[in-house]
Amino acid sequence: MLDVRGIHTYYGQSHILFDVSLSLRKGEIVGLLGRNGAGKTTTMKSVCGMLRPKEGSILFGGEEVTGRKPYQLVRRGTCYVPDDRRFFADLTGTTTWGSSTGGPANGTGRGCTTSSRRSGRSRAGGRGS
Ligand SMILES: Nc1ncnc2c1ncn2[C@@H]1O[C@H](COP(=O)(O)OP(=O)(O)OP(=O)(O)O)[C@@H](O)[C@H]1O
Ligand SMILES: [Mg+2]
Repeated sequence: MLDVRGIHTYYGQSHILFDVSLSLRKGEIVGLLGRNGAGKTTTMKSVCGMLRPKEGSILFGGEEVTGRKPYQLVRRGTCYVPDDRRFFADLTGTTTWGSSTGGPANGTGRGCTTSSRRSGRSRAGGRGS
């Protein structure tokens, strides 16, 4: 279903991914393991269209999707779900949650109660993702 073939991805001049390949079949769950900074997030961002590999190709459902925009890939069933803090950096937790669910920001006043914007308290530990 997903084939990543020999991709090389950069941040500017920094060459991060060197000839990365992986494949997933329908129904499989695959974990990508590696130390901090190994390139896991960069790999996922490449697959989801947030970064464009300079070399290599990505096929989804047999179709070449390398270089497609994230919104185009979402429509095909591929999306990136970040685990980082500050996803919406200027919003409080309440506003972020409400804007995506129709929850407290829309007046229900229930559910998310955090407003610890930029407090750095929202993670259990480490910096990995
Ligand atoms: N926006 C960026 N600009 C430049 N270099 C970056 C950027 N984001 C990540 N890097 C670098 O790319 C390399 C791979 O980072 P990446 O975030 O993909 O690693 P990771 O495996 O997800 O790490 P972690 O376990 O810490 O989440 C690291 O050397 C990192 O410093
Ligand atoms: Mg990461």
